[in-house]
Amino acid sequence: MQIELLQMLYATPPTGVILVSTIDRNQRNNIAPFAWWTVVSKEPPLIAISIKPSTNTFRIIKDTAEFTIGVPDPKLLDAVYQSAGLHKEPDEFKKLGLTAIPALKINSPRINECQVNIECRYRDDIKCGDHVLIIGEAVAVDIRDDLVHDDDAVMRRNLVPLAHLTKNKFTTMEGTILEASAEEEEK
Ligand SMILES: Cc1cc2nc3c(=O)[nH]c(=O)nc-3n(C[C@H](O)[C@H](O)[C@H](O)COP(=O)(O)O)c2cc1C
Repeated sequence: MQIELLQMLYATPPTGVILVSTIDRNQRNNIAPFAWWTVVSKEPPLIAISIKPSTNTFRIIKDTAEFTIGVPDPKLLDAVYQSAGLHKEPDEFKKLGLTAIPALKINSPRINECQVNIECRYRDDIKCGDHVLIIGEAVAVDIRDDLVHDDDAVMRRNLVPLAHLTKNKFTTMEGTILEASAEEEEK
């Protein structure tokens, strides 16, 4: 059946939420959750996030040209949800019970409790209606030791996404691995 156009938001599969960590020129940290994001290029490694231009995250990225993407562990559910509402907190890491660790290549700190941290340098942006697609180049990635595996499928399977359904409801999308038997098309 046909549904309202805006219901499109809930008629698309949920994506794993990320926490974007930034630091402004006064050394103030900012953390916020984002669900509209994806990898958009392999070489160079580019990631795009659709961000409202009214957010602190947008303002800081445009000013400092860098940001760190954290893939939160589902245990961080409340911190993830709460982080959306913090705007004037002097220390967002402390308020959210998270630990800032220095990034390897940029200033925006990594979030110790995240499963993966991807350090990005701003590359470009594209206005998309009421949001702006911020494109960053990944310059360093680190993954929690216990998640690393030499079989890519297993390593990926070890990551548990915290995917946003609606309002305060999330899913971890845990399920069985389905293995396709069809041959992959020749490239
Ligand atoms: C689960 C979740 C996902 C969100 N995804 C996005 C998103 O993809 N893009 C966006 O602009 N805002 C998104 N938001 C809203 C921002 O997190 C919110 O505007 C936040 O206040 C921005 O914080 P900041 O001003 O500190 O950057 C999301 C909020 C939640 C709770």
